[in-house]
Amino acid sequence: MLLVLKMEDRYAFLTEWYDPTAALLRRYQLFYYPKDGSVEMFDVKNQRIFLRRTKYDEIHQEDLFVGNRVNVFSRQLNLIDYGDQYTANKLGSKKERTLALIKPDVVTKIGDVLELIYSSNLIVTKAKMTKLTWSQAADFYVEHQSKPFFSNLVQFVSSGPVVAMELMGDEAMSIWRRLLGPADSAVARREAPQSVRAQFGTDGIKNVGHGSDSLAAAARELEFFFPSTIGHGPSNTAIYTDCTCCIIKPHAISEGLTGKILNSISAAGFEISALQMFNVDRANAEEFYEVYKGVVTEYPSMVTELCSGPCMVLEIHGTDSPQTFREFCGPADPEIARHLRPTTLRALYGKDKVKNAVHCTDLPEDGVLEVQYFFKILDG
Ligand code: TYD
Ligand code: MG
Repeated sequence: MLLVLKMEDRYAFLTEWYDPTAALLRRYQLFYYPKDGSVEMFDVKNQRIFLRRTKYDEIHQEDLFVGNRVNVFSRQLNLIDYGDQYTANKLGSKKERTLALIKPDVVTKIGDVLELIYSSNLIVTKAKMTKLTWSQAADFYVEHQSKPFFSNLVQFVSSGPVVAMELMGDEAMSIWRRLLGPADSAVARREAPQSVRAQFGTDGIKNVGHGSDSLAAAARELEFFFPSTIGHGPSNTAIYTDCTCCIIKPHAISEGLTGKILNSISAAGFEISALQMFNVDRANAEEFYEVYKGVVTEYPSMVTELCSGPCMVLEIHGTDSPQTFREFCGPADPEIARHLRPTTLRALYGKDKVKNAVHCTDLPEDGVLEVQYFFKILDG
């Protein structure tokens, strides 16, 4: 008799978790079994099982690639390497990261651009609104230094806020460049009418965006905006006056709602004066929500939600913004919001009282403080 042993599919990763209590980076092997969606963790240093194989619905195969961060029972694990050749071949071969830069002409259309990015199966893993100085822009475009259009290009890119993003996914670099279309917007309208430049661009220089043109360029350009070593890269654009804080919560980001929410905010006439993605750890989430502790029964779940993945934080600018923006977000419970205020953000995009799409500042006097917490302290 021939016995065919069919091995169960198992993906392996080497992961790192920062343990805040011990102030140590701990390493675990993470195993994922797609058949039943279960996970298992092995402590590398102590050579013992850390988490027995357990079903865990919140991890999905598409989240599993090196460079991403996943949440397993409230621990944020950085996936730093594939654990075996099988996993690398099966899940890692085509994953890339690239830089997408939204130029000053269309920063107010960022929601539309994000919608196109998400519909191409790319995910946004980092984002920051910044304003480049002339010399920063010249550094960024150093490869074009000798071209006749260099000074116009540098002048334009440093003329207003831009949004830098790290995009990740299968063939991210070429997919984003294809989405952008030809550099000249008029050519784009002729040859690639669905492209971002065809839809939102003006001419050859006001052409919506930039995309890295090689993996080496992507590495250099990502390092420019999101340095992994020293320094912070170009600073954020928060102004800390007449403002309120909005957080697009991790569940909404992972459901691909970011573009829709940003579109709704802009369509309602609110000015987004700063924007950045953050990975909030538990200690910071607890600190940020401190005032709700013991007051709101959902406090522990709110903390867990805020540190369950990347969130996007906005500074909304306007003299009466805390109040009007809060009304625009709607009642904290999306069920109630759908009955009473069906056009509010929570009615449209919320699921329950914790996964309610957005946080907004409650008290007008806290607007500046909450904005400072993210853009000064966490990005400090
Ligand atoms: P390039 O790298 O050729 O295009 P892409 O942005 O698609 O990678 O050029 C960089 C930028 O320089 C381009 O986005 C707009 C500007 N530019 C001009 O203003 N005039 C030109 O003739 C070219 C080729 C580029
Ligand atoms: Mg180029």
